[in-house]
Amino acid sequence: MKMKLMRLAGLLYLACFAVVMTTGCSGADGINGTDGTDGTDGADGTNGTDFPGPVPAEYTAADGILGGAAYSKWWTTDAGGSGTQPTTTAEADFYRCKACHAWDGKGNAASYANRTGQSTLTASRPDVAWVNLRSTPANQTYQGLFDLVVHAGARDIDARDNTHPDYSLELTTDQVWNIVKFTREEWVAPSLLYDIEVTGPAMYVDRSATPDTVVAPTITYSNVGALGDEANGQTLYTSLCATCHGADGTAHDLGGRSLGQFVREKPNEAWFKAKFGEAGTGMTPGLVTATSDLQDLYAALANAANFPDLP
Ligand code: HEC
Ligand code: HEC
Repeated sequence: MKMKLMRLAGLLYLACFAVVMTTGCSGADGINGTDGTDGTDGADGTNGTDFPGPVPAEYTAADGILGGAAYSKWWTTDAGGSGTQPTTTAEADFYRCKACHAWDGKGNAASYANRTGQSTLTASRPDVAWVNLRSTPANQTYQGLFDLVVHAGARDIDARDNTHPDYSLELTTDQVWNIVKFTREEWVAPSLLYDIEVTGPAMYVDRSATPDTVVAPTITYSNVGALGDEANGQTLYTSLCATCHGADGTAHDLGGRSLGQFVREKPNEAWFKAKFGEAGTGMTPGLVTATSDLQDLYAALANAANFPDLP
């Protein structure tokens, strides 16, 4: 009897085991295989170009000296313009680059710090701009600088306005590239030609005075031509300037000044005329281009004994 019971229990156990086997009791997952090795690196990209990017062919072909002439009077034939000043209701200073940006490109921060405009009681010309064109190229691509000069969509050329005009209908593409090249390559650092000191408060109108009075800083020039070679400057003067301005620079009255006096009192401007010309005078762009020659000319013309004031 006992044996029978034990056999029955064994059978029940086996039956139960068979049920478990068929309904599941799955085995554990296998272990993942190891990662394959990395693929080989892709080929390097092509090199980028350094800022400000590739030099456009138009820039290479441009003439920075003519660009300087255009900065003064862009409509003249000397500067590659049509020869016709735009019909305009505004004075030329409202569209001459130099009127807003100064001969030195520093706007109202240096030689033009005391130059009045519309908001300082001189209605016939714009206020001098606060931007420094000498530092602009460092932050611009060639095309970026081109676009800043053109300023498409800006104010009308005829408007008596202090802001930068729209030049898209006024300047030729060649002229704009010339100006871009001028701006990047042809400025002469003022400190190579003279020292300038601006003292006093920034310009404003004192409306408590009667009549309203402009208060402006004082500008003092010194060391004109101090870095130049006077003897070489005299030689350059004799061969390049004396035929028109006379042996001692007094043959032309330049707004009440002899040439020597002009250089001593407006050293911020004289170099510009010598380098980029003065339309209508026979002084063609590029008369004196080397900075060392400009320094030498200044050294000679600074000497008031040889180049006196007008009598
Ligand atoms: C009536 C005044 C006026 C005239 C004329 C003018 N500008 Fe400007 N220009 C400005 C002012 C103001 C600014 C700065 C604000 C702006 O962009 O309008 C400026 C901006 C610029 C800038 C960009 C500067 C920067 O760092 O963002 C360039 C470049 C420039 N002018 C070049 C020229 C050239 C070249 C001419 C002549 C073809 C010219 N300007 C004529 C007033 C003038
Ligand atoms: C072909 C003749 C000629 C030659 C050469 C010449 N100039 Fe002039 N220059 C003039 C005339 C004309 C004026 C304007 C006179 C006037 O305003 O009546 C002038 C004006 C100037 C002015 C003043 C510009 C202004 O805006 O008032 C400067 C500065 C000047 N010349 C410098 C020079 C220098 C420096 C040289 C030599 C590198 C030189 N010039 C060679 C004819 C000449």
